[in-house]
Amino acid sequence: MTLLQTHNLDAYYLDFQALYGVSISLDAGQIVAIIGPNGAGKTTLLRSLAGWVPVERGCVTFDDESIGGFAAEKVVALGIASVPEGRRLFHSLSVEENLLMGQESNRSGDWSTDTVFDLFPVLQGLRKRRGSDLSGGEQQMVAIGRALMANPKVLLFDELSLGLAPTIVGDICRTLPVLRDKGVSMIVVEQDVRRALDLSDYVYCILEGKINLEGESNELAFDDVANAFFGV
Ligand SMILES: Nc1ncnc2c1ncn2[C@@H]1O[C@H](COP(=O)(O)OP(=O)(O)O)[C@@H](O)[C@H]1O
Ligand SMILES: [Mg+2]
Repeated sequence: MTLLQTHNLDAYYLDFQALYGVSISLDAGQIVAIIGPNGAGKTTLLRSLAGWVPVERGCVTFDDESIGGFAAEKVVALGIASVPEGRRLFHSLSVEENLLMGQESNRSGDWSTDTVFDLFPVLQGLRKRRGSDLSGGEQQMVAIGRALMANPKVLLFDELSLGLAPTIVGDICRTLPVLRDKGVSMIVVEQDVRRALDLSDYVYCILEGKINLEGESNELAFDDVANAFFGV
């Protein structure tokens, strides 16, 4: 069942076109990876889905409802939450307070600070620590937890591994199937081609605002994806 979809999506920053006719689809229970080099349009695509970048042409549908042009808060309230590039925590707030910020959509569900601490036990002992005093990996866990506190059906995950220590990246990757089992479908932006193929069911490669390769992750050849990444 298709949960979230774009069809021929164009997006602009003023008169600069960042996305050209992008069509992607996320099924319920699926993990979709978006890969591509810096500046390809990955963040723009997620921001278009999340209501932060206007949908200039084409459409975005969620649960068969057109959501293109919806405000970001409304998109979260419908069940699409984001883990943004750079985490964007409130540095003066504690771990617990940052997590509680994610509850603002008032969606009902099982996620709470306790269930986030079950997922990331290391955060339990850091609950009073300020966002500014966390490592990058800990911040990433808080950002994921904050998104989960909105009880999303879909998680939009920008730059899963960027700047994080390999062990932390492993820990975070291992939580993705756990989240899937809890009913969360995911779109994950990841620049490491091997990791993107490993963690996902389906992959879209994006280059200069256009999708230049897509397919089932276990059917695509690594070299083809790497070539698409570099545009050769
Ligand atoms: N706020 C912005 N204003 C103008 N141009 C932007 C803005 N954000 C991104 N861009 C441009 O849009 C293109 C796509 O950027 P982005 O989606 O951030 O790429 P990626 O996430 O793949 O690195 C790039 O050329 C980038 O310079
Ligand atoms: Mg980006």
